[in-house]
Amino acid sequence: MKALFLNGSPRKNFNTVALLKKAMEGAKSLGAETELVHLYDYEFTGCKSCFACKIKGSKCNGLCAIKDSIRPVLEKAFEADIIVIGSPIYFSYPTGQVRNFLERLLFPIDTYLVDENDGHRIKVPHKTVHTACIYTMNCPKDWLEKVGYYTILGRNTEEFGRLMGTGEELYSCDTYQFNNYDRYDVNMFKEEAKRKQRDEQFPKDEQAAYELGVRLAQKAIGTVKEEGVA
Ligand SMILES: Cc1cc2nc3c(=O)[nH]c(=O)nc-3n(C[C@H](O)[C@H](O)[C@H](O)COP(=O)(O)O)c2cc1C
Repeated sequence: MKALFLNGSPRKNFNTVALLKKAMEGAKSLGAETELVHLYDYEFTGCKSCFACKIKGSKCNGLCAIKDSIRPVLEKAFEADIIVIGSPIYFSYPTGQVRNFLERLLFPIDTYLVDENDGHRIKVPHKTVHTACIYTMNCPKDWLEKVGYYTILGRNTEEFGRLMGTGEELYSCDTYQFNNYDRYDVNMFKEEAKRKQRDEQFPKDEQAAYELGVRLAQKAIGTVKEEGVA
């Protein structure tokens, strides 16, 4: 059972990666072979609209045709039974690097074909992958609905579910953004309140991330038994 964890934050030692590491621990506790990849270590773009994956008789088989530095990571994602993407929210969306990665991962699996009998959208055949997105943000939990984040971010979960198997999401709100709030020109966040959140809520988010990792591994174990893939 292979589990791939993708860090979509440019920072390798902050909130997003801390939660990803907990989810990794959870998946590992049930025997998953885990790997953490930092997406900002790679220089790559999103989909270039070459449509090589949509040509009649295409040999892409669901894998992006562009052979650049991110290709080995896409290959790993293709083999994984579990994929967890962690991303900070930048201007209401996952980071650009995550967006680029999702375009490159999901578009080749998707098709412009519908089943003529029932009209459902056809996808390139692929084993079931259990996925989750972990989002970290300044936004407080009770604003999530108001600012539309459940709708915006829920779309990724839906696409993962439709194209790869299952999708879940975890939100970590009101994160501690800098190590020293006095150093920066900020008055809309109070360090004391942020520190309280970091010390009291963030450990709960870490526990939720750990449980997410366990849950994904449980789902993957069930799928491996059903589909006979390891
Ligand atoms: C360029 C930029 C844009 C941001 N935009 C938002 C935003 O729209 N909404 C929000 O809630 N937080 C926003 N944030 C805050 C980050 O999402 C938050 O600090 C996150 O936890 C950072 O993740 P990290 O600690 O793993 O780097 C932004 C941060 C940056 C640097």
